[in-house]
Parts: sequence; C-alpha cells; structure tokens
Amino acid sequence: MAALDQLISIKDLTPASVHEVLLGAKLFSKNIHSPLLSNQTIALLFFENSTRTKISFELAIKKLSGSSVYFSSSGSSMSKGETVLDTTQTIRAMGVNGFIVRHQTAGVPLSIKLSLNLPVINAGDGTHEHPTQALLDIFTLIEHFKDIKNKKILILGDTNQRVARSNIKLLKMLGAEVILCGPHTLINKNFLSLGVKIETDLDQIIGSVDAIMALRIQTERQNSMQIPNVNEFRKFWGVTASRLKSIKKDTVILHPGPTNWGVELDYEVSDDSRSLISKQVQNGLFVRMSVLSKIFNPNGFKDFLENKGKQL
Ligand code: CP
Repeated sequence: MAALDQLISIKDLTPASVHEVLLGAKLFSKNIHSPLLSNQTIALLFFENSTRTKISFELAIKKLSGSSVYFSSSGSSMSKGETVLDTTQTIRAMGVNGFIVRHQTAGVPLSIKLSLNLPVINAGDGTHEHPTQALLDIFTLIEHFKDIKNKKILILGDTNQRVARSNIKLLKMLGAEVILCGPHTLINKNFLSLGVKIETDLDQIIGSVDAIMALRIQTERQNSMQIPNVNEFRKFWGVTASRLKSIKKDTVILHPGPTNWGVELDYEVSDDSRSLISKQVQNGLFVRMSVLSKIFNPNGFKDFLENKGKQL
C-alpha cells in the first residue's frame, strides 16, 4: 500500500489508493470498525464556514478513537493580526499529529503542508479542490451503480468550483463520462483539458444522463453576479419539478450541499426516490474515516482492509 501523507488534490491519489479508500468506507458503512486513530490528535482548522465537512471529520476521528482540536478563525488571535502560518505553527507546537484545513483561498492547505511537514487533508480551499467531497460522491455513485465506468455524469450549474474540479478528476480517473452544463459565465473552459464535454442547453441532455450532480451557486466567490438572477438560473439550469418528469427512472440526483432550494433544485427533488443527497451526507462520515485511517495509520489500515475485507 503506497503511503499517502497528504490529500490536497485528487492528483495525490492513484486508482489503487482510491480503491483502498472506497473499500475502507464500505467496511465502515457496514459497522465494521477498528480504533485506528488511538493516540492521534488531529487539528481541524476551519477558516471558512462548514457544517457537513467539519462535523463528519470530527465524528470520524471520534469513531476511530482519536481526538481532535477545533480551530475557527472567528474568535481567534487572527483578529490581532496573527497569520495562518503562525496559527498553524502554534497549534503544531501543542503536539498535534496533522491538520484538516478549510480555507477560502486556494493553496492554503498546500502551504501548511510544505511549511510544517505534517499530514494535511484539504477540506476545501477556495475554487481549487475538495477531494473528500469527490470521494464521498463517487462512493455514493458506486454504491448505487456498482461500477461507474462509461456512466454519463452531468455536473450542473455553478461548475467553476472546487467540488466540480475534484469530481471531474476523480470521475475521469475511474472512466466515467463527464458533461458540464450551466451558464457560460459559470463554466471553466480550462476543464475541457480534463476531458469533459460542455453543454449549455439542459433540456437537450437531461433525459440521457445517469446522474445529475447539481452544484450550489457560490455567490460568495463571485466578484460580480455572474447570472442575471436566481429565477432565470432556475428556469434554464434548475432541476425543477417539471424537469423531474423528463429524467430517466434510474437517473440519480446528487448535491453536495448546502442547497439553495427553489434555485438549483426544486423542493420536490428532496422527496424523489432518485435523490441521493442524504446518502451523500451519510457516506461522508465513512469516506472520511477511511481517508483519515489511510493517512494517519497506513499499516493499521492495510491490516484492517486485509483482515476485515474478507467479511464483505
Ligand atoms: N459539501 C460541503 O462541503 O458542505 P459544508 O460546507 O457544509 O462542509
């Protein structure tokens, strides 16, 4: 098993390491556990708000018998001018074994990794990447479809963002077909080099895809509004109640959350049996347990997979 001491980008993973993470997550989802993080203390550094990622990492550490300390920039000495690197060096001096980092600026988790040389997991950095979100999305898709090779996955809406970038890289690594759809202003044409297709007319393709991954409009990262208004967005790129009728019976719908209900998705989607949104949240815990185990206890994780994998 190749060592992994950072998960900053999907580029840090190979198909073999993705397979191990997904196998570990499957074991954890079946309630097959092991105290793989005993004696480890991991610092959760959240410079930007979060609900799902923060709580699932915290719970994952607890379930693996590790301990965590939580840092939020609001209420910290950053208000007195302390920098990100000073902050992380201070927390490191208290004896933590590694960091989970969310920051509004792309590149901060990598800077922390390079300056401290401790394991770092990226919990979302600006518009760059959110690798554990992509892993949990792919775990959810594989749980549903068994295999995602050649499946048509539509990434919809505000596709110029970290969840899209990580998902595109991981989906392409695993052989899926990826189509981006949304307003021109929210599509990053550089993603064409990753092998995606681009389509702006949702109604042309919605009936032919196997999964729709709708993404939140991230107004907090737009210098100026890049869509005329949210009603217009819903009309052209929303998964509306009427569009639900043109989706195949076995097409699934995902959203990483938080959702702008009535914009990216109509409320009816939450009651539709094809929605996997709650599953994504649930699976986030299992995938993060697996990533933490692989990074912070590689040998223990290897034995766990070898011994417990037989129970599947
Ligand atoms: N999907 C996601 O990252 O959600 P949070 O911002 O709530 O962590």
